[in-house]
Amino acid sequence: MNRSVSVYGRPYYAQNENIPISGATRHGMNKGNHMSTSTGFNRRSFLQSAGLTALAGASGGVALTGSVSAQAAGSTHIPMKGGRYDFDTVYDRRNTNTARWDGPSRDYPEGVFRYGMGVATMDFECAPCITEALTARVQHHTWGYMASTDGLRDGIIKWNGERHGLDLDPRELVISDGVYPGMIAALRTLVPRNNKALIMSPAYSGFYSMVKAARIDSVDSPMTLKNGRFEIDWADLERKMTPDVRVLILCNPQNPTGNVWREDELLRLGRLALEHKIVVLSDEIHGDFVRKGHRYVPFATLKDQAVVENSITCNAISKTFNLAGMKNAYFYSKSPVLLERVKQYHRAELSTLGVVANEAAYAEGQDWFNQARDYIDGTHDLVEKTVKAKMPQVGYVRNEGTFMTFLNFGKVIDAIDPGELAQYGGKTREENFQDWLTYKAGVYVNAGSVYGEGSDGYMRMNVASARSVVSGALDAIAGAIKGL
Ligand SMILES: Cc1ncc(COP(=O)(O)O)c(C=O)c1O
Repeated sequence: MNRSVSVYGRPYYAQNENIPISGATRHGMNKGNHMSTSTGFNRRSFLQSAGLTALAGASGGVALTGSVSAQAAGSTHIPMKGGRYDFDTVYDRRNTNTARWDGPSRDYPEGVFRYGMGVATMDFECAPCITEALTARVQHHTWGYMASTDGLRDGIIKWNGERHGLDLDPRELVISDGVYPGMIAALRTLVPRNNKALIMSPAYSGFYSMVKAARIDSVDSPMTLKNGRFEIDWADLERKMTPDVRVLILCNPQNPTGNVWREDELLRLGRLALEHKIVVLSDEIHGDFVRKGHRYVPFATLKDQAVVENSITCNAISKTFNLAGMKNAYFYSKSPVLLERVKQYHRAELSTLGVVANEAAYAEGQDWFNQARDYIDGTHDLVEKTVKAKMPQVGYVRNEGTFMTFLNFGKVIDAIDPGELAQYGGKTREENFQDWLTYKAGVYVNAGSVYGEGSDGYMRMNVASARSVVSGALDAIAGAIKGL
């Protein structure tokens, strides 16, 4: 690894899902569900302890061999093959202070953790146009304040217009340094203390930390699994639209369940919210990741002006191009009044390199992204086939979008001796299973319990990796749960 930065750097940032806050917890921030140092229990050192090493050893611990380490390609450039980007060659991200790989590896004894299939970043080498633009900018050796973000603004408008039919005026757009800051500003603006945000769960764990940061409450409306799809429980949702609910947090497409919301569903949600005087806060960061046969409908393109004007959308291409570390996002509203109100609570500090990287992605990254999206679509098929063939006791939910998959391990968890699971000391059985699986299979996935109500037994797996890594991880899981 010739481009490594500080290894295991600290502190980690609290805002993102499942990234530890220094010394606190490595699990996602769910209301009442996170572990703090004030409990006096240091789970990290517990997991590192000899007792659990012995436990893993006794039941057949994992050796550090296999696809990840064997095929690690380092940080050298992976050339195209026949005009196609090569997503099959493994791009080794370890020891670059990356949350997905270097985060969990700190928590387990050497040799236990092998596959980082958690935090929602992609393992692929980024689009070459991004590295080229950054390299060119770095040749100019000064780093003072930037004059303008007009280029970025143009890129956002063009991308959304051409790809998603969204007509945005620059005045409707606010540049931000993450989806989090925009969402938190909107929550602070629109939800007074002791009032609530309504969340259709299972939902992105970060929503619960945003709610916490805004010092408000939230209420979940759990979706129900019907014919293999998570569906909105409309009666429950409406029942929960009480006068103290001021905002509906929408995740379009939905992380972690993979729903790509249809126009009719969005309209119905929008009209219900309007009727109950609830503003729709739509997080559309996964919007570009839509599988064949589905279409991402930006909430602001709905054909009901009153519904659209009752919404704010937060977005970024940090998922699209794997640019989360470049701190760049935006939010917009077709209601100038709403937008002005939210702006009062928002301030973003962008970095020059982040702007350069994002501008390049918007301007020249289309082809790379289209290929990456199609590759991941195929990987989802591979996951579906493998899960159904090799682990029939695991429930598969077909994704419509995102690069995550939400698997139901309920039966597997039930089959493990509760005493054995409890040894891991987690708050929930999914957290304990997360450790169990890391010890038994070397595979780290996210515990369903951080995604709110309706997530019992589920684990979220990131599939944005070379297929050999995804297959290796799935085979390791299948091996570990076989015979339970
Ligand atoms: C739905 C959703 N919103 C927001 C974020 C984080 O966005 P940002 O890094 O721009 O704050 C994530 C990251 O996984 C996400 O899945």
